[in-house]
Amino acid sequence: MTTRYRVEYALKTHRRDQLIEWIKGLLAVPFVLHSQPTVIYQNHSEGLQTIAADTHQRYAEIMLDVENLIADHIHHEAASLPGKSKLKLLVPSVGSFFTALHLQDAFNYQDERRFISRRRFVAPSFNDIRLTLNSAQLLGLVRTSSVELLTFDGDVTLYDDGKNLTPSNPVIPRILRLLQQGRKVGIVTAAGYEDAPKYYERLYGLLDAVFESGDLSSEQKAGIVVMGGESNFLFRFDESKDCRLSYVPREEWLLDEMTAWREDDIKELLDLAENALRTCKDALNLPAAVLRKDRAVGVYPVNGVRINRELLEETVLVVQNTVERSAVGARLPFCAFNGGNDVFVDIGDKSWGVRACQRYFNGIDPGKTLHIGDQFLSAGANDFKARLASTTAWIASPAETVDLLDELEAAVNSSS
Ligand code: IMP
Ligand code: MG
Repeated sequence: MTTRYRVEYALKTHRRDQLIEWIKGLLAVPFVLHSQPTVIYQNHSEGLQTIAADTHQRYAEIMLDVENLIADHIHHEAASLPGKSKLKLLVPSVGSFFTALHLQDAFNYQDERRFISRRRFVAPSFNDIRLTLNSAQLLGLVRTSSVELLTFDGDVTLYDDGKNLTPSNPVIPRILRLLQQGRKVGIVTAAGYEDAPKYYERLYGLLDAVFESGDLSSEQKAGIVVMGGESNFLFRFDESKDCRLSYVPREEWLLDEMTAWREDDIKELLDLAENALRTCKDALNLPAAVLRKDRAVGVYPVNGVRINRELLEETVLVVQNTVERSAVGARLPFCAFNGGNDVFVDIGDKSWGVRACQRYFNGIDPGKTLHIGDQFLSAGANDFKARLASTTAWIASPAETVDLLDELEAAVNSSS
């Protein structure tokens, strides 16, 4: 039993999003019953249109049912009766939603772009549903409130993994547009450096563009911050600095709960994590070096070699389990994650990073905050925790982030 459990857990559960898998299962039924793989394309175009319309209608109905279940879940959470939520019974791992999700409209939008209901051989996929959930979230934000703060992960979300945000990056004019609209922006990254010039090296394309922009007022320029090391180092935009950023002392932004994080606990947790990482490095013969920092410890490959995914995941799960089972792991939040070609353990996590940005900008609500990131699996992924503090969008590449920001702009314009 134990072995079976371990295999199931370690190989499957953490690599699946339960809500997305569940919706995928619901849509699989009309796909199986209505798709007509035997109809020939050329001769039956009219018949195909009817089949597609029929399939579309059934998918859309299911999306509306899910939308209503989510509304019911929100209602029960607000009434402090989470146990009565039907959605919670169906998908036990489901968390909180800070706005309604307009899934049916979102599905109509994505179906026009991805031709989901015209497909006869390929069922609605993980990506179809992930993107539909993103669209539904944007509509939820725009229709029920407004978007006052957008926080962005760095690697994979704004630029390719391990690369920098260079001046030609198409996300730059979109972020400038957000600032010009008076929205606040936080880059909430795991990359943990204590000094501002290191962030300038990674983000100079964007920071220079903000600096040089003649369209932005000083107040709007002050609307961008960088939170490094998940929730450990805050920097504000500073026109007077060559590196465009100033370190903000912790006393100015730490949340009350964070002031209770003790230095000796931080050291103890990092010692424990470092030990586990070293054990993995030896046991799995990782071609990696261990890097200990003030608020993090990690293993990264030497000489740019690639470590395979299985070994990275094994390392994350070992470290996470080790720290989770310790007394200090219960006292202090931490985040162990697979960074694509490295594994890091950080003190705190992005829920604290996003909350600190909300507080820094005078208390922005979770339902008016959107965190955009690429790592939303439940273990070994660091954007996942942001779901505790804000609404989220799960993207898979920097190009998708750009598309999402344009979709948001269009949704805002059409609602006003
Ligand atoms: P993110 O995608 O912006 O959250 O950045 C994650 C990447 O930052 C990791 O994969 C590491 O390569 C890098 N990194 C640099 N310093 C740190 C640190 O102190 N903690 C975690 N990740 C770090
Ligand atoms: Mg990332």
